[in-house]
Amino acid sequence: MEFFELVKKRQSVRSYKPDAVSREDIMKILDAANFAPSGQNQQQWEFIVATGKTKEKLGESYGKIGEAYASQWDEPAKSDFINYARTYGGAPVVLVVTVVASKNPSTRKMHLESGCAAMQNIMLAARDLGLGTCWMIGPLNDEAALREILNVGDDREIVAVTPLGYPTAWPPMRERLDPDLTRKVHWLD
Ligand SMILES: Cc1cc2nc3c(=O)[nH]c(=O)nc-3n(C[C@H](O)[C@H](O)[C@H](O)COP(=O)(O)O)c2cc1C
Repeated sequence: MEFFELVKKRQSVRSYKPDAVSREDIMKILDAANFAPSGQNQQQWEFIVATGKTKEKLGESYGKIGEAYASQWDEPAKSDFINYARTYGGAPVVLVVTVVASKNPSTRKMHLESGCAAMQNIMLAARDLGLGTCWMIGPLNDEAALREILNVGDDREIVAVTPLGYPTAWPPMRERLDPDLTRKVHWLD
């Protein structure tokens, strides 16, 4: 897909078909992530590809978070959200980006931003292959559970999580808050 079209066609997908994603496509997506820019060219990211039982455990954890988060919501929004959380929208794969951890705030920022660049490449590469994603940090609300399920030690930081799969439908593109960029762009001479 042409780049500017691709950027505009990436939407957060929260409902997926159960169809498997090929290992080849997953590796293509992670190869794109591996070509992101990184602070000091440390390429400090690693990727976890969670399927099967691991994905189920991730769903159990996020489901509990979802129950608390949506406890005051009306139906059917409440059940829909909890179901989305429990199943990651029915996606067959969950990808997790981790980076090197640091206690130094500016180094930590550098590592996290590198991870975010990798994450964005994942989403764009997936979209180009007809696959949906949704950048998620909600699952980090129980970070201890996430670390245990994914076997991530203190030497690494979890950046974000995304389901990966074929969407049941592509959601409509979200309106831009400032489509003409009159308030978002500041030219300084
Ligand atoms: C840093 C970050 C965290 C996010 N966390 C979540 C999340 O926990 N759960 C979720 O369903 N979506 C999450 N999103 C997706 C946003 O809700 C979504 O990007 C936004 O509503 C705009 O929609 P679009 O991605 O379709 O353009 C997150 C996005 C970003 C960039």
